[in-house]
Parts: sequence; C-alpha cells; structure tokens
Amino acid sequence: MPTSPRLDPALVARVAARYAAEGRFARGFVAGKLRRDPASAAILHAAGAEGFGSVVDLGCGRGQLAVALLLAGAASAVTGIEAAPTQAAQAARAGAGLPLRVIRRDLAADPSVPAADTVLIVDVLYQLATTAQLALLRAAAAAARHRVLIRALDPGAGARAALTLGWERLSRRLSPHAGAVVNPRPPAEAAAILCDAGFAVTLAPCHAGTPFANVLITASRPAAPSPPAAPGCCPRARPGTRHNPPAP
Ligand SMILES: C[S@@+](CC[C@H](N)C(=O)[O-])C[C@H]1O[C@@H](n2cnc3c(N)ncnc32)[C@H](O)[C@@H]1O
Repeated sequence: MPTSPRLDPALVARVAARYAAEGRFARGFVAGKLRRDPASAAILHAAGAEGFGSVVDLGCGRGQLAVALLLAGAASAVTGIEAAPTQAAQAARAGAGLPLRVIRRDLAADPSVPAADTVLIVDVLYQLATTAQLALLRAAAAAARHRVLIRALDPGAGARAALTLGWERLSRRLSPHAGAVVNPRPPAEAAAILCDAGFAVTLAPCHAGTPFANVLITASRPAAPSPPAAPGCCPRARPGTRHNPPAP
C-alpha cells in the first residue's frame, strides 16, 4: 500500500478554525479531508521548500486546500474557481484576510484559466463531460508557468475503480450538487495533453489509506516555457511512470 506524508495537525486545526462559522458539517468535512485524503498532504509536500508561487485552484470546493497552502506559506496567492455557490462562498469567507480570491464560475461553460505559476485540479475532471475536460486541461496547460497538479480517478484501476465509481454514482444520487456527471477519463489522456504542452509528467498512486482509485498527475517545466512538442509525445501512461517531452 503506497504511503504519503501526513499534514501537520496544527495546520489542519488552523484551517478548520476558519470554517467555525460554517457549521459542524463543513468544519468536520474540511478537517477530515485534510487529515485523511492523501491528496492534501501529497500536494503540500510537492510544493517543497520553494513553494508553488501563485496558484489557480480549479473547482476549489470549500477552499480548504487553498487556505492550507496559504497558511503553510506554500503559495503566495490563490485564485479559486468554483461553480457551487455555497462552496464558493464558504471558501471566500474562510480565506478572509489571506490572498485568496474566489471566482464563482462554471468551468464547463467557460474553461478559461488565469495565468499562474501553478494550476491545481483536484477531484474535478471526472465531474465534467469529456469535451469540457479536454478544454479545461488545455487551458490549464496554457495558463501554468511551472506546474499543473491533477488528482484524478483512474477508471482502469480494476476493483478500486469499480468501487470508486459506485461510490461516486451513489453520492450523486444522494447529493444533487456532487457534479453533473461521473465521467473519469484515462489519466494518460491528461498526461498526453500536458506533455504535448512541454511539461515533464509523472503519474503516481494517490489513494493511500483509502479503497479508492486515485492518481496524482504532476506536470512541471522550468521557468522558460518550452515550445509546444509534437503531438503524441506521451505513450499510454500508467501510475508510477514518468514522461518527458521530446527535446526542443
Ligand atoms: C469532489 S469536489 C473537489 C473540491 C476540491 N477541489 C477539493 O479537493 O476539496 C469537486 C468540485 O468541483 C466543482 N465543480 C464541478 N463541476 C464544476 C464546473 N463545471 N465548474 C466549476 N466547478 C465545478 C464542484 O462544485 C465541487 O466543488
């Protein structure tokens, strides 16, 4: 079972405290997500000592990851884009006094992404139709100066994928706000788009401690953007693999 670092409990408590006015459910959800979802720790860990710089968090939800990055000094500023009005409002209130800007927008209708050092897309793509996913991925690749990090559901991950899809479909029936569709695409598709845009891409499992089928796609490039690579530079990617764009 892959392991990942845990978030500092003091940081989790500081983030959760910012949701005190949002009720027990929201506060508990935020704390639980930061504590138990390996994506939070993996993404903070990926920021490293140098940090992410300016960040765009697409489908930021309640904004707990953005707030954690800011409180940890791992981002200089965050723009969150979120369609759901309640989540967007909670994210904005939680970020009061921090350099967090929350924009309420449907990314399927308007996939434009503001320029930033780092673009995050965490557990969002599978909630979009395929054409909207591809448009958002291309916009993210064009907007990110240095990095794109995507946590995605891998539909090819056997029993884990079946369980995750079942859970997501059930959640959608219980909560009408759980996304328009459950439409996970192969992670290799996103990796190929990022690779073609000049990023070096790695895929790693990102489900430690859960029965789910998630992967973390990390795309990075040096300060000076590479010219777009020839199409098809990434062969089919599997978790644990690394792909580099061809030399310019
Ligand atoms: C599973 S949640 C993940 C939230 C957040 N990224 C996190 O890690 O906690 C998916 C989020 O994507 C948002 N979302 C789904 N479709 C969207 C769309 N078309 N435009 C903007 N946000 C969307 C949902 O409202 C929800 O907040």
